[in-house]
Amino acid sequence: MDKFIIQGGTPLCGQVRVSGSKNATLPIMAASILSCGEVILNEVPQLEDITVMSEALELLGAAVKREKDTLIIDGRSVSNCALPEHISRRMRASNLLMGALLGRFGQAKVAFPGGCAIGSRPMDLHIKGFRSLGYDISEGYGFLEGQAANIHGQEILLDIPSVGATENIMMAASMVPGTTIIRNAAREPEIVDLQNFINRMGAKIKGAGLDTIRIEGVKRLGGVEHTVIPDRIEAGTYMVAAAISGGDIWITDALFEHLQPIIAKLMEIGIEIIPWSEGLRVVGRGCRYLPTDIKTMPYPGFPTDMQPQMMALLSTVSGTSVIVETIFENRFMHVQELRRMGADIKVEGRVAIIKGNHLEGATVEASDLRAGAALVLAGLGAWGETQVLGLDHIDRGYENMHQKLQQLGAAITRKSV
Ligand code: EPZ
Repeated sequence: MDKFIIQGGTPLCGQVRVSGSKNATLPIMAASILSCGEVILNEVPQLEDITVMSEALELLGAAVKREKDTLIIDGRSVSNCALPEHISRRMRASNLLMGALLGRFGQAKVAFPGGCAIGSRPMDLHIKGFRSLGYDISEGYGFLEGQAANIHGQEILLDIPSVGATENIMMAASMVPGTTIIRNAAREPEIVDLQNFINRMGAKIKGAGLDTIRIEGVKRLGGVEHTVIPDRIEAGTYMVAAAISGGDIWITDALFEHLQPIIAKLMEIGIEIIPWSEGLRVVGRGCRYLPTDIKTMPYPGFPTDMQPQMMALLSTVSGTSVIVETIFENRFMHVQELRRMGADIKVEGRVAIIKGNHLEGATVEASDLRAGAALVLAGLGAWGETQVLGLDHIDRGYENMHQKLQQLGAAITRKSV
């Protein structure tokens, strides 16, 4: 096990490059087995979750090869449609293989991924979508099993604009005869990237990024080369790093249009954000910050995956801020750790009331990926030394985090515990 040791108080300055999006790469890797050819993915980040998805694909029989930031996946050798339980337990997103296996082979067996620190993470909307398409889905002994019965295009209304359910249904429907319409679909940029990827393999999907997606089933999907979009949550995390440290950083390869809700909130607080030909510049230095309120919502609302990071920042902004978490039922695990650093935060259900002041260094532990990022940011803005434990969570979603922060001048080192 490793830990970060951070000396707070240094304004971050310089340039940092955003890696490819974890949450675009994972569904696209799953969708690669829809192809009857070879898939080449560029800008794939080196992350634990990507490693787990690669292992999952290999366990199904696919060939996966990594060459630096490129993944080459050949799904033609997939011969097994049952994903072992240990993989599902290691990463929830392995449930995206259910839609891809059903779409390509008409059968699938995937263990329920189970809950995690932030919530119960049910799959009822995924199951409802598969059944609407004519797949027989049975649940039992911790597994979900699916079998094509009378598959046909269908109109599906999602009760919640679930990202994973939208992606799984897109994959399961891509080769189902007829027209499928997903209403109240999630609109995240990662879904647009998935649509673009599957269409380049030969699918006929329209509407991703809006709340209605239309899929015309096709008979066959071929090989393709694709570059995944930049990671908007990683970009947002470094934007907050500039803000909480009072620094001035240039973020390259970030897509301005994907960052609008984060930009709007940071500007409300008083941070200066300047578009730039290769990304954006974030200036916290010399700015007077004001408290603000945040309510997490499905895209294009404020992303839940940036909620912990913003809470760390608002813990250092004088005045009272309110955060409402509407997406996950238990996404305030970072509060108790921020309190160890002197944060004044009261939680009532899904509402956190933050009375900002300053933070003091302490030893804290990550409970999940974005909580871990929030604690690193808190350490950058705190007085004194902070030690962050639980780096296995951070390694799931941030490529070379401490090296990127060191490049920006942060006093951060990684040591084994
Ligand atoms: C994706 O998870 C992301 N993960 C999450 O990022 C992100 O927080 C989430 O979308 C919301 O934006 C990946 O893309 C790999 P949902 P997903 O289905 O698809 C409920 C990170 O830190 N729901 O949109 O699992 C669910 O309980 C991770 O990178 C049902 O009730 O999220 C939640 O309350 C964390 N039934 C809400 O919908 C279902 O069948 C949104 O979940 C499915 C979901």
